[in-house]
Amino acid sequence: MNAPTTSRYPDVYAAWKADPEGFWAEAARAVDWIRPADRVFDPGQGPYGRWFTGGELNACHNAVDRHVASGRGGQAAIIHDSPVTGTKRTLTYTELRDEVAALAGVLAQLGVAKGDRVLLYMPMIPEAVIAMLACARIGAIHSVVFGGFAAKELATRIEDATPKAILSASCGIEAARVVSYKPLLDEALRLASHQPDACLVFQRPQAEAALMEGRDRDWAAAVADAKARGVAAPCTPVAATDPLYVLYTSGTTGRPKGVVRDTGGYLVALAWSMTNLYGIAPGEVYWCASDVGWVVGHSYIVYGPLVHGCTTVLYEGKPVGTPDAGAFWRVAAEHGVVSLFTAPTAFRAIKKEDPEGRLIRQYDLSRLRTLFLAGERADPDTVKWAEEQLGVPVIDHWWQTETGWAIAGNPVGLGALPVKHGSPTVPMPGYDLQVLDEGGKPVGANVMGTIAVKLPLGPGCLPTLWQADDRFRESYVSTFPGFYNTSDAGFLDEDGYVYVMGRTDDIINVAGHRLSTGGMEEVLASHPAVAECAVIGVKDSLKGEVPCGFAVLKAGIDRSPAEIERELVGLVRDRIGPVAAFKLALTVGRLPKTRSGKILRGTMKKIADGDAWTMPATIDDPGVLDEIADALKAKGVGA
Ligand code: COA
Ligand code: AMP
Repeated sequence: MNAPTTSRYPDVYAAWKADPEGFWAEAARAVDWIRPADRVFDPGQGPYGRWFTGGELNACHNAVDRHVASGRGGQAAIIHDSPVTGTKRTLTYTELRDEVAALAGVLAQLGVAKGDRVLLYMPMIPEAVIAMLACARIGAIHSVVFGGFAAKELATRIEDATPKAILSASCGIEAARVVSYKPLLDEALRLASHQPDACLVFQRPQAEAALMEGRDRDWAAAVADAKARGVAAPCTPVAATDPLYVLYTSGTTGRPKGVVRDTGGYLVALAWSMTNLYGIAPGEVYWCASDVGWVVGHSYIVYGPLVHGCTTVLYEGKPVGTPDAGAFWRVAAEHGVVSLFTAPTAFRAIKKEDPEGRLIRQYDLSRLRTLFLAGERADPDTVKWAEEQLGVPVIDHWWQTETGWAIAGNPVGLGALPVKHGSPTVPMPGYDLQVLDEGGKPVGANVMGTIAVKLPLGPGCLPTLWQADDRFRESYVSTFPGFYNTSDAGFLDEDGYVYVMGRTDDIINVAGHRLSTGGMEEVLASHPAVAECAVIGVKDSLKGEVPCGFAVLKAGIDRSPAEIERELVGLVRDRIGPVAAFKLALTVGRLPKTRSGKILRGTMKKIADGDAWTMPATIDDPGVLDEIADALKAKGVGA
């Protein structure tokens, strides 16, 4: 950090670098411990070390009970605002504690114990948060699956996590349709060889689910019964290194990675971030407009704000269409939100419908201090528009499911640094960022390379993958020995600001959702008419990127290409889910390849994006690229 500033950031970052263990030991005071850690960091445990070894605590106690004990019992803990159902519901910290304790009691009676996994397939309703906290209360490990995933994706996660119980709701509600979850869950359980002992189903009036005798139970009835019998589970002490949750994220194949989050380090990092990165005081209203199915939702809808004693807004709606592009401003004004956190794509959607910001000016946003963006690259145009319209700092920050909180950001709580559009600013404590070339050598300022974090990773980051230490090593720490490979490409400028430009692997980012093109290729390849295929991400003005699939048909297939393309679109929706937003499939005669047979996806992407491209020297047959360009043009894609 070389630029002049009045922010405390340079001193704080330098203090962390000089004494990381001392720094995190101090930060750990924001969390209640049942037993203090023996060691702040033990390099001998796990693939690269573990934080707060020997320590014991409980995440639910830290997020709920301790606030009731310290006088926040009457404060709103959760405000559920649901324009899709036309309902609003507030739960105070005391009410939240009672709901969580009762549900935790139900889980315990179902035989769920410390260390057992519980899979959650839930929409954005308070019960989703209650369920996460109930697991944490008894030391069970939750694994939340985003509602936009299909049955097969759910089945893969059930197979890997082997949950003792599954908690779900009868349906989720999208702007235009009711999504019945239960048939998806039933289908997933039909596909999976692992079966849970029980499923607890929260019935919503929009679509009641049929319950299977012996396996499924009615959530509300079970909780009511527990309350009537005075069943309330206490908080179970867990080791700081025990997993709080496993969250699956896209890997480079169709097999998702089970990111493990420990308990102690995670709560310490989140507590530090609420004060120093987000600049939030306990008691304030904080709104992260994401989904509990994503890491951002775990950290900043649930654990971050609740551990910090804030009121968290749980929003079941969209930035547009529920009912209009003023929805975010209505919620922010009505609930006195001081900080909003969302994805740039949400802002692009709002800007498209309300370019003049007329709806923004209909609401009193005087309490809103900051807008935080993450999940995808924040394009400077969107950031500038948001700054002009809202008149508050717009802070881009960069993180991954793996890290659990921001790798880089602008620490508002320490005094904001000057914003440079296109950069998520500077590394947070815990992250020693280096930009490396292909051989693993650090490059100079303003030179592109792979962004890597010098090991060890700080508190909050994944210690490993669920029951897959070797996959962890192979995926993250073997390419550049001594470093965690973020698989993001970018550079650091002369002031130490980081610029994150895109992935170095086959992950694409669709409306802030992380997806694997490799996984989509596996689906296309399973179609009986497809000989070979490729999926790339192409630029999209709303979603940032959308997937586009190319399929070469097997010899002798004389069916209509348009019909097969429709089937391919349907197949991806069916196997991965609507969230893949896979709407563009093209049948082509050949795929462009190098002489050694590697598909030239990078060049195909440049053509599809309308970017300048040069003929690769290694191409086998240059004519194929013209065919690709023609096929794209026929679909209205590319220049
Ligand atoms: N359950 C079931 N289906 C879901 C779902 C869920 N929880 N979430 C999304 N889907 C479906 C959508 O209904 C849509 O289906 P469709 O193809 O039938 O229209 C599909 O998945 C794609 O969803 P999405 O990419 O979100 O597109 P959208 O058109 O519904 O909305 C935006 C576009 C920009 C408004 C929306 O993506 C958005 O708000 N993005 C912000 C994302 C965000 O907060 N990300 C978290 C990181 S911070
Ligand atoms: P996820 O694991 O879903 O949070 O996605 C992580 C990926 O999203 C990162 O590896 C980046 O590629 C991208 N990403 C997230 N936030 C940003 C950001 N602020 N700027 C650029 N890319 C981002």
